[in-house]
Amino acid sequence: MAFDPARIREQFPILATRPMGRPLHYLDNAATAQIPQTVIDAITAHETTHRANVTRGVHALAEAATEAYEGARHIVARYMNATADSEVVFTYGTTSAINLAAHALGEGLGEGDEIVLSVAEHHANLVPWLMLRERKGVTLRFLPVTDEGRIDLSALNNLVRERCKVITLTHCSNVTGAITDFRPVVAAARAVGAKVLVDGAQMAPKGQFDASELGADLYAFSGHKVYGPNGIGVLWGRRDVLSAMPPFMGGGGMIRSVSLESVTYGDPPKRFEAGTPPIAQAVGLGAALNWVMSGYLDGAHKHMDRLTLRIIERLQGIPGARLVGPANMEERVGVVSFALDGLHPHDIAQILDRHGVAVRGGHHCAEPLMTRFGLTGTARASLAPYNTDEDVDALFEAIEDALRTFSGH
Ligand SMILES: Cc1ncc(COP(=O)(O)O)c(C=O)c1O
Repeated sequence: MAFDPARIREQFPILATRPMGRPLHYLDNAATAQIPQTVIDAITAHETTHRANVTRGVHALAEAATEAYEGARHIVARYMNATADSEVVFTYGTTSAINLAAHALGEGLGEGDEIVLSVAEHHANLVPWLMLRERKGVTLRFLPVTDEGRIDLSALNNLVRERCKVITLTHCSNVTGAITDFRPVVAAARAVGAKVLVDGAQMAPKGQFDASELGADLYAFSGHKVYGPNGIGVLWGRRDVLSAMPPFMGGGGMIRSVSLESVTYGDPPKRFEAGTPPIAQAVGLGAALNWVMSGYLDGAHKHMDRLTLRIIERLQGIPGARLVGPANMEERVGVVSFALDGLHPHDIAQILDRHGVAVRGGHHCAEPLMTRFGLTGTARASLAPYNTDEDVDALFEAIEDALRTFSGH
């Protein structure tokens, strides 16, 4: 059966709402994707019948909650083809996953050690490393970005040197939509024994993947971008890599034993999950990934590629419009950033909002990338499988209105 966005739309209650009395054209999926009814139901059912703390209780409800939480871990493991559930650490999102990794990997590093990242990184994969530099004196080296908006991997040979300990890059840019080819990255890392951390926030929603086949040592993503709730994320790690990492946060649930003199830590993943974890959120994430794996999205990529290309081509027809990202569909996703001559991205987003078109305007938490393109921000339309040709039409009607409004015609 051909992919039908209408079948997807009917599962997302928010898409039938009419904010400001108009149909909603939700094109801010790179920030947060919407959530299907089945995920809402799974969270509600958990909170209604299985709410308790995990691991620590022996009563039936605590056991049921633990089973649900660990069941969600198993679903994540299946989604990313992990070899064991214990490779999946629950975090609060991509940001907290990367902070965990930066702290743990950075613990043994010092002056002279090098981390390679790129100018295209989201602040979530930049600031934790800037903080590590402040704490430990490590050197950060940045891969540049091409005019097309791709991380320039031809610079790897120059940048990755003997003292490189970590290469950390986005799998897919939240600004340009460009997908990173990890083959040369992994080869460069292996040559010097560096770890590879992948920021998968924008790529994980595209469907099942295999982080270890990609060559990653660690892979981070967020629940709210994969049709799940917020407040939950994942740091997947190869078993030997996680086992060698010290904990980040301390507290209940992550220890083997504690006395007033000393503490020993539990094995991964528990070592990295101090305190009460986001239990209902994990259950919701599991339901969301099950939904993605259920076959509903078969054929969605082709549909989204077609819509993305429509947006790009229509932008190219607007005088003064500038696309920030690849103009073809090769190795890119449906995240389309653009600038309109003389219009501030916030103004664009505000006028579009009057038409019920939700896009993001600003620096998208990627200020160095904006600087690279000589911009303070862009407007960004980002697609999900439930988007339609009507959404694209509404986007361009609204853009024309913005152009009219600001040119005074
Ligand atoms: C590429 C990328 N990395 C990291 C993040 C941070 O994700 P979160 O805010 O869910 O922690 C985002 C969010 O937009 C992103 O797009």
